[in-house]
Amino acid sequence: MDVVDKYDNQVVRWFAAASIFWAVVGLSAGVFIALQMAYPLLNFDLPWTTFGRLRPVHTSGVIFAFGGNVLMATSFLVVQRTCNIKLPNPLLARFVFFGYQLFILLALSGYVMGITQGKEYAEPEWYADILLTIVWITYLYVFMAAIIKRQEPHIYVANWFFLAFIIVVAILHLGNNVSIPVSLLSTESISAFSGVQSAMIQWWYGHNAVGFFLTAGFLGIAYYFLPKRANQPVYSYRLSILHFWGLVFIYIWAGPHHLHYTSLPDWVQTLGMTMSIILWLPSWGGMINGLMTLSGAWRRLREDPVLKFLITALAFYGMSTFEGPLMAIKSVNAFKPLHRMDH
Ligand code: HEM
Repeated sequence: MDVVDKYDNQVVRWFAAASIFWAVVGLSAGVFIALQMAYPLLNFDLPWTTFGRLRPVHTSGVIFAFGGNVLMATSFLVVQRTCNIKLPNPLLARFVFFGYQLFILLALSGYVMGITQGKEYAEPEWYADILLTIVWITYLYVFMAAIIKRQEPHIYVANWFFLAFIIVVAILHLGNNVSIPVSLLSTESISAFSGVQSAMIQWWYGHNAVGFFLTAGFLGIAYYFLPKRANQPVYSYRLSILHFWGLVFIYIWAGPHHLHYTSLPDWVQTLGMTMSIILWLPSWGGMINGLMTLSGAWRRLREDPVLKFLITALAFYGMSTFEGPLMAIKSVNAFKPLHRMDH
């Protein structure tokens, strides 16, 4: 059968195109806020052009709009090929596409108008949060349906990573956004948490957004495209399973390292630090698994630019998962608060 009929490629292409569009928007906002810091003259007397309002346009633009569309494009591409099935719910997949773009528009337009919950990476207000919940549950449904109806006996490891990304992001989103709207006609809401509980929930969310949105999802991409491009199997499938469960069980505890030397109880800070250091092991296990997948294909690095990108991404995964545990050590992290106290 022709690959055009065998898989639903149209919706994958839409997500890919949207990711490029949002990359241009998000990176332009990044360039502009960087210029504002270098040339304060660019802070015009219009509230919507200020650094404070455009900074989340950059961060949400690159992470959720650019990155999110990349993840949706690749997860739908990978699940179809590894399960040997066409997406069973094409209409719902298209609802996810339009619903997600609408969520991004609502979120970003809110930021420039000054509508925000003030929680980093969870800035959108309640009306956008509700839309995202509906879209995300639909995304989970479409992805799960493909896995349940798969024509292959085995669920390939990339799908495990994508599934963890989708499920955990749903839990994080629901957990961190429990709030009561001031009224149905108001864009504002009051958070259910306050004080140190609010901070703890926020960084449980914030850190795991990095862990599951920016890590688990992108590892799903790596576990499919790396062996595919290298044209050889994953070096150790067993290691990939250890990588998966190691990340899932340990990541979720590491959030308190964002709250070192705050009023968060000391033992919680120490727990967060300890889990962050342990997290180094599965991360490097995964990185080494990726590097070893290329063994025997190294000479192809000279002529294949895609493999060059993949190997560079793995090297950066290794570097940032070393930097993170190091910075999570309280005595290393102490440099920052000490610096602040000096001023
Ligand atoms: C043209 C390229 C880019 C430029 C010029 C740029 C610029 C900036 C600027 C000026 C900030 C604010 C720094 C501050 O508040 O002190 C920032 C923050 C940030 N950017 Fe970018 N950025 C770029 C690309 C990216 C990309 C590709 C990503 C991720 C996919 C990204 C993710 C972030 C994140 C997560 C933050 C918040 C960091 C923090 O609070 O420590 N940026 N960026």
